[in-house]
Amino acid sequence: MTPAIEIRNLAKNYGNVEALAGISFDVASGELFGLLGPNGAGKSTLIRIVSTLERADAGTVRVGGVEAGRGDAAIRAQLGVALQETGIDPLMTGWEILLLTGRLYGLSGPQARQRTEELLTRFGLTEVSRRLVRTYSGGMRRRLDLAVALMHEPSVIVLDEPTTGLDPTNRMALWNLLRDLVRQDHKTLLLTTQYLEEADALCDRVMFINRGRSAALGTPDDLKRAMGYSLIQFTIEGGDLEAFQAALRQAQFVPHFQGGRIQIFSLEPEVDVLRLDAAATATGARLRHLEIKPPSLDDVFLSLTSGHQEEVDARGN
Ligand SMILES: Nc1ncnc2c1ncn2[C@@H]1O[C@H](COP(=O)(O)OP(=O)(O)OP(=O)(O)O)[C@@H](O)[C@H]1O
Ligand SMILES: [Mg+2]
Repeated sequence: MTPAIEIRNLAKNYGNVEALAGISFDVASGELFGLLGPNGAGKSTLIRIVSTLERADAGTVRVGGVEAGRGDAAIRAQLGVALQETGIDPLMTGWEILLLTGRLYGLSGPQARQRTEELLTRFGLTEVSRRLVRTYSGGMRRRLDLAVALMHEPSVIVLDEPTTGLDPTNRMALWNLLRDLVRQDHKTLLLTTQYLEEADALCDRVMFINRGRSAALGTPDDLKRAMGYSLIQFTIEGGDLEAFQAALRQAQFVPHFQGGRIQIFSLEPEVDVLRLDAAATATGARLRHLEIKPPSLDDVFLSLTSGHQEEVDARGN
């Protein structure tokens, strides 16, 4: 099947800044794909190129099999976009903006009004629809951005940092809206984020990008497994905590204390659990609430970007 989005060897320079240095990936139809990377990684550049708002220096982008630069009008017809910096006029009301967007996409007056009402309802904006966007909260603006992007019923949606700046409640509400677009409406979604837990909770697959290059690509679980280690987590009961800690150090463990729990990264969790148990028993303590888990995406990200840091440091010397 033709991928919804196909990106091959994409490169873009701004003067001597290499914003994209040869990125390739596919987003399958019906997939929720996340691009994860720190500030300046090249996420927005990639989104602008996929949206046909900017040209790559090299490489190709296809959306639904149509190549950017050849069939931009056809791409825009099937693509809904919300950029990081929204182009929405804060001195119009949400209702006016949606209606105008509908007319710009060629809907008749009654069609545009009907679609506007549908979108306002879907995104919980009906009550504020007659207010100037200037008065909207961050969460309302993000939902309006999304509604605008969906006006012409695109099959592929591209969102640049859709949840940045939202509080946890609004972020989770937006996650649910995004999940519904993919699971219920069978849209394809490419989004960028700086939040690891967002990529983990939301995305089918994730690409880490760093300085315009892919650092890793896979499902959140793949990426965690690729790290090769597990996280052993437990509390202890009884015994002497000081003596237990000394026994852990003696056994070459590096414990982290997290909210009353002890965490240890391990390449051989089954073996290490036995060694931990022995250390506890020797100091009169018992392991409780023992769990063996894959590491979080944070751990993956830190390990990838700490390599990057070393490189920067090495060049500074
Ligand atoms: N129009 C431009 N002119 C000059 N340099 C640019 C331009 N757009 C982006 N860059 C540079 O390209 C690099 C990638 O920028 P980009 O905005 O794509 O990163 P990003 O991953 O979206 O970052 P952020 O998380 O901060 O939004 C950065 O070094 C940036 O300064
Ligand atoms: Mg950006």
